[in-house]
Amino acid sequence: MADDGTTETAVNHMRATMPARPGRLRRIRYSFECLGWRAAMTELANGGDAPESDSEFDAQHGTDTAGSVEPGDLGIGNAESRKLAIRYLPSPSRVTSWMLERIGVEPRDYSFVDLGCGKGRVLLVAAQQPFHKIVGVEISTDLAAIARQNIARFRPSSGQVRAIAVENTDVRKFTMPPGNLLIHMYHPFDPAVSAAVFARLAAIQDLPQRRVVVAYLTYTQSVSSVAEMFAASGWLRLLRYEESIRGRYNWLFYEGTPTA
Ligand SMILES: C[S@@+](CC[C@H](N)C(=O)[O-])C[C@H]1O[C@@H](n2cnc3c(N)ncnc32)[C@H](O)[C@@H]1O
Repeated sequence: MADDGTTETAVNHMRATMPARPGRLRRIRYSFECLGWRAAMTELANGGDAPESDSEFDAQHGTDTAGSVEPGDLGIGNAESRKLAIRYLPSPSRVTSWMLERIGVEPRDYSFVDLGCGKGRVLLVAAQQPFHKIVGVEISTDLAAIARQNIARFRPSSGQVRAIAVENTDVRKFTMPPGNLLIHMYHPFDPAVSAAVFARLAAIQDLPQRRVVVAYLTYTQSVSSVAEMFAASGWLRLLRYEESIRGRYNWLFYEGTPTA
């Protein structure tokens, strides 16, 4: 312990906000459910394929969502936003589908928002559900343009696709749609940016009460800082935590009613 007890206080605080780690069997079962048998076996055996090289979705739909882009190459003009951005990586579509099936929201009663939507793969998966509105927010002009092209090309076999809007802006300037929200995030930026987004959401006063559900996908090393950011919001509480066997696709589900 430090002389003044600050280290112990900080450690206790981290323990209080950190979600309980699921046991190994549950992590294995979740990995098989969300990645599928083949990818989960590879994950178990050698750490798995990198998310940027997953081209299955693009091969199936004629889209361009794979690859990775470093923050310095995203074309972000604002130096602070560039510093706080994390590289573009697409979510595996199965991982998004797993979340949509289990998050416990009725799509007709919610708008879906992907904060940091990149090339839009998550939006395309969500658009097969009857959400009220589907919006992606992306700071990179190049990636937002690719997302719009992907939306124009996308023709799923089900034939059912909702309209999707892509806003090319910093999430801190974006105004959320009214009504209930399902907010998706794939660890897109530093938690300081997320904190500003949720504080802004809570400050909107002249709307009827609404429920906000957040599905946050991230890797194990960032879980404590993300959980701390949600705890500090004062109005979002943890619903569920799942961890994949290699800790690359961990879901944190939160929910709350914004209060200033
Ligand atoms: C990890 S990618 C996630 C892409 C997509 N949501 C998915 O799951 O497939 C994160 C994205 O957040 C974007 N981003 C980073 N900082 C941002 C900001 N301040 N405002 C809006 N988008 C931002 C990046 O450009 C990048 O495309």
